Amino acid sequence: MPEFIPVFSEMEIHDQIKLIGEQISNDYANKDLILVGILKGSFIFLADLTRRITVDHKVDLMGASSYEGASSTGQIVFTKQPDLDLKNKDVLLVEDIVDTGKTLLKIIEFVKLLDPRSVKICTLIDKHERREVKINVDYSCFSLNKGFIVGYGLDYNEKYRNLPAIYDLKL
Ligand code: IMP
Ligand code: MG
Repeated sequence: MPEFIPVFSEMEIHDQIKLIGEQISNDYANKDLILVGILKGSFIFLADLTRRITVDHKVDLMGASSYEGASSTGQIVFTKQPDLDLKNKDVLLVEDIVDTGKTLLKIIEFVKLLDPRSVKICTLIDKHERREVKINVDYSCFSLNKGFIVGYGLDYNEKYRNLPAIYDLKL
């Protein structure tokens, strides 16, 4: 039976998102902000974050998939492109978790081809131990060294996204 070790509670998650939402609202006053959530893992974080941002902004989604089970396949598949025109916009990419950084690097490269004014990164969890490429994370709610995390949008083989808090999954 898998074991779920609590890592961040619902209350801690909501407090951190409130704080990050305030920072983003300050930093993006008078900018042309578009939040671009990376599917699927960011959908719950994105829904809570957008409601904590008090400046006008738009929301879009991009699909990228990299993982099967708990280990990277090294392959990144784009499953959905943004609908909105990102040219001259201030794009904030919203991720669930940055692990090796390889997924995000590919996404950043792709988004830059769409000619945005700026591209920044907001992640729920910045997980350091396995980072392979340099990624400048502009906003992160939580930092972790290691672990395989599920809940609040994060999955293991597409399960456990529905858990309201964040857990370390021990298989
Ligand atoms: P990266 O390319 O290694 O940075 O992987 C990023 C993607 O892998 C994330 O967007 C997640 O979908 C998935 N991932 C990485 N670490 C975890 C984890 O601890 N739990 C669940 N998914 C993870
Ligand atoms: Mg993801």
